[in-house]
Amino acid sequence: MNPVADKTNTESHVSRLCCIGCGAITDHVEQNLRCGNCGDLFEVFYPGWADEASRTAAGMGPAALKQLWLLRRCSFLPIDTSGVWRFREMLPSLKPGHDPITLREGNTPLYELPGCARSAGVNALLAKHQGMNPTASFKDTGMTTAASFARQEGFRWVACASTGNTSASMAAYAARGGMRSVVLIPEGKISWGKLSQSLDYGAVTCQLRTDFDGCVKVLNEVVKRMPVYLLNSVNPYRLEGQKTAAIELLEQLAWQTPDHIIVPGGNLGNSSALGKALLEMKELGLIASLPKLSVIQAEGANPFVRSIREHGGKTLAPVEADTFATAIRIGNPASWKKALRVIQATKGTVEQVSEIEIASAKAEIGADGVGCEPASAVTLAGLKKLVKQGFVKPGDSTVLVLTGHGLKDPEFTLKFHRGDLFEGTRYEQDARVLASQQRAPIVLDANVGAVIRTLEQFDRADSGR
Ligand code: F0G
Repeated sequence: MNPVADKTNTESHVSRLCCIGCGAITDHVEQNLRCGNCGDLFEVFYPGWADEASRTAAGMGPAALKQLWLLRRCSFLPIDTSGVWRFREMLPSLKPGHDPITLREGNTPLYELPGCARSAGVNALLAKHQGMNPTASFKDTGMTTAASFARQEGFRWVACASTGNTSASMAAYAARGGMRSVVLIPEGKISWGKLSQSLDYGAVTCQLRTDFDGCVKVLNEVVKRMPVYLLNSVNPYRLEGQKTAAIELLEQLAWQTPDHIIVPGGNLGNSSALGKALLEMKELGLIASLPKLSVIQAEGANPFVRSIREHGGKTLAPVEADTFATAIRIGNPASWKKALRVIQATKGTVEQVSEIEIASAKAEIGADGVGCEPASAVTLAGLKKLVKQGFVKPGDSTVLVLTGHGLKDPEFTLKFHRGDLFEGTRYEQDARVLASQQRAPIVLDANVGAVIRTLEQFDRADSGR
């Protein structure tokens, strides 16, 4: 069986690159993926989308696209079963004869979070769980596209600096695509789960004695001197893949726009990608209105929040980042200008949350039966603040984007429940408020009576509530 008819005229999804700083348009970029004129980042655009009549004639009308994408759900071919490439009319095309590298990424569930909704003070709350991707984070949706372009360009090596999830994902896609990968990660600052993944998938894993921002600096020099393809989120093809999470979300919502989408912010590639998808879906007539896209950072890694609050978004002053949510321990986010643009275009906002708020929110999401990593939980913590401020109304529909799986960082979870996560830190006093959420394991003799007594204790406590 052929892939479900690519009925659209291929002219309509020819893509080019445009510099977000000076507007230069090109098809070829330097290995550091920065504009040769002004040093800014590129983004993909589709010249064939410019006018509606030719779009419709090319099979890119909204009704035709929605039907085509649904139809592909009946296909078993890799390109159709990928939750990214299923939306390939909105992606750059690979040249004939080049197949995507796919692990059947995307296709992630949308969960209801009733307990979290109650505690946040909203009537209903949904979570799009991007941690349910093949390597357990949202990075896979972008890696399938960018790694496929790396292979098409004939690169033997791909590389990234990472707080752990990009590296795990890149290592997997490089392995699947027959490429070598090199990973630069900050020593001692990423979770064991993520580190173990990149080892298992065969990456050359270098733990540098610096932080994420230091790893980025080193890698930028390496790519100038060695023929390696850069797979950080400065890579515009990564953001194209990542944007499909928003398309899939809207399809799951029957193309009804929610009032709010809330995402964590680190290097700010993901918020940029999701925002780009929202704007493009509006442009193509797939949705009638835009949700407000808001970005939440940890207080200890808040350069974007500060940029907007202190400098009106005109400049970004890097900070020395520190947070237990190691995935977003980033002080100098590369894609801040792109993220700023989409927040402004969608009328979203930014907020920051404390370490205690993050830990508490993560446990609340867990208590709804959904595991996520600490960085993902900033979304719920942020939502609570946005409800208190009146930015999110109780009756608004809101989707949290959970970016990583709960098993990415079990050490955080174990320490939280044992009560020693914040031991010896400046948060130790404040962390007392978390006691009621902690569920330390109970050590008992191998004895029926002991187990029954424990159950009875919990029963009594539950009925006393
Ligand atoms: N959530 C998780 C679980 C992440 O791993 C990251 C980023 C983010 C949120 C923030 O997304 O950077 O696009 O704003 N992780 C990167 C990495 C930096 O190297 O794995 P962002």
